[in-house]
Amino acid sequence: MTWQVLIQSDVEPYVTITRLLDQADIELHWWRDHEPDPDTNFDVIDAIYAYGHFSVTRELMQKCPRLKIVANFGVGCDHIDQEAAKELGIPVGNTPGVLDDTTADLTWALLMAAARNVVRGDHFARGPDFLQYDPSFMLGQQITGGILGIVGMGRIGYQVGKRAIGFGMPILYHNRNRNEKAEADLGATRVALDELLERSDFIALNMPLTDETTGMIGAREFALMKSTAVVVNAARGPVWDQDALLACLRSGHLHAAATDVTYPEPLPRDHELLAEERLVLLPHLGSATQQTRDGMAEMSIENLLAGLEDRPVPNRIV
Ligand code: DGY
Repeated sequence: MTWQVLIQSDVEPYVTITRLLDQADIELHWWRDHEPDPDTNFDVIDAIYAYGHFSVTRELMQKCPRLKIVANFGVGCDHIDQEAAKELGIPVGNTPGVLDDTTADLTWALLMAAARNVVRGDHFARGPDFLQYDPSFMLGQQITGGILGIVGMGRIGYQVGKRAIGFGMPILYHNRNRNEKAEADLGATRVALDELLERSDFIALNMPLTDETTGMIGAREFALMKSTAVVVNAARGPVWDQDALLACLRSGHLHAAATDVTYPEPLPRDHELLAEERLVLLPHLGSATQQTRDGMAEMSIENLLAGLEDRPVPNRIV
């Protein structure tokens, strides 16, 4: 039997995914732009392979009467209507664990870049104005010994905290549930969000995007942060209010911010945040290493095949 899979975005550059898909008896139906190909026959679709954060809506799932699985390339599934999938009895699989280290590494890359003016410094060092070393110039924030506040002490948050040990940083965390492992291994202290924002020198946002975390960091929360604080978003754009962030950076309240994610993503090319020097901005590179992407490919294709073959989906979230 040849399975019919609707695949979002162009995965061809990813040799691992292409190889794994080629090994299975699968016919691909492409969705390369923001809409599926107009001639897509939804009646025959057995699976959706979600790649590149296109929305998997209730309407789309309902359009596919044979749908057996939605397999997501990635751990965050906020772009998939999970409530609808549950109601429709369609399993959803994701790729947890494999990307924790990579995403924690990148959270640190952002934190360090923002704290120590790495991106601004790089641009300046290449530009025409760097004619003499100036010891008073581009002073950053001392990372070693600073208090690190982690919002979202899940698997990735834990790894972010683990890396702080080498910098001698006390760790505060805010999480819906207590994380006893983080407390035991990292000496992390669970506090209310406001206390974390007020006391931390560095704030890492590593929570999933849910109804509860959408807009969690707004103008009020930014105002609670120290004026020397550095805040890093390696979660999802909508966990903070971008207008409030912009106002905060412009007013000089906050040393700097860094983010891997925005809303929309990408930002319009003339968006005001793009002109903000004290914002380090990346194009969603959290899990972007060859090793991790290969791991994500294997896990997501395994979820896809399990769903198609009526086997238990190994990493099923719905
Ligand atoms: C994830 O796994 O959620 C990353 O953001 C890539 O989708």
